[in-house]
Amino acid sequence: MTSRTQGPCDSSQTRPPISGELWSVDDAVQAIRDEVGDFAPEVMILLGSGLSGASTGADIYYTMPYDRIPGMAPARVVGHPGKLLFGSWANRTVVLFQGRNHWYEGHPWTRVTLPIQIAAHLGVGTVMLTNASGSLSPKLPPGSLVCIDDHLNFMGANPRVGVTSNDPSTLFPDLGEAYSRRLRDLLDDAAMMLGQSLHHGVYAAVSGPNYETPAEVRALRMLGADVVGMSTVGEVIVARQCGLECSAISCVTNMAAGMTSGAITHDEVVDIAHSVSLRLGSILDTTLRLL
Ligand code: HPA
Repeated sequence: MTSRTQGPCDSSQTRPPISGELWSVDDAVQAIRDEVGDFAPEVMILLGSGLSGASTGADIYYTMPYDRIPGMAPARVVGHPGKLLFGSWANRTVVLFQGRNHWYEGHPWTRVTLPIQIAAHLGVGTVMLTNASGSLSPKLPPGSLVCIDDHLNFMGANPRVGVTSNDPSTLFPDLGEAYSRRLRDLLDDAAMMLGQSLHHGVYAAVSGPNYETPAEVRALRMLGADVVGMSTVGEVIVARQCGLECSAISCVTNMAAGMTSGAITHDEVVDIAHSVSLRLGSILDTTLRLL
């Protein structure tokens, strides 16, 4: 394979093909068009670990499992159904990704961020991401919902490495307001209307797949992070480069390592995420109505 475009939303940007990648964003979009026709979503929502139940308010017209989308892999991590849903929610046309392909699973960044690139190609303007995280603050116990104001990328990687462009403004995306002020305000308004508490904080992204050591947790706290997780920032970086307006809500599923006794387990993460998903869904629903 030589020069197929893997660059996100602008065909002037290309990246060298990654060995073994036999698909392009165009193939993924074509497969969707073949099944779903001319669907024009306004909003893309991605539901992370254990959070798929948040979408019960949506009216779904069509479902595509990830393995029918070239480039996407079936979700392998428990709590990630691996389905792309097309529908309407609170009078907005939406695409809903239930589950992620993660970098820690060994997927290339082109696959991890493919949902964003698909959304951009389908004409989405607004992205709402969700994830599960560990808390770095006693003020954020498990079950807390945190509107992400900003992030620290400690994944040791960046999805844009290798993308080339003659236009410096697209090659070096500005992340001064990675998480839209407007959307954060709407999320606050929605939570207030519902009488729910929505915290705010900085999300530190690490590669995983192990949970952190207590020393790493102390370091992340000193550096200004409030929650820690293994996703989201790659998607946000690509979404901003595509000019999409982004927001993200993190669901605290556990206190981070060393902050309480006992080991962190994925079962606990998924259980707590399940238990807050209806609350998360109501905030998303009301925010969609306010958009
Ligand atoms: N650390 C990293 N990622 C996570 C955690 C955590 O404690 N909990 C849920 N995702």
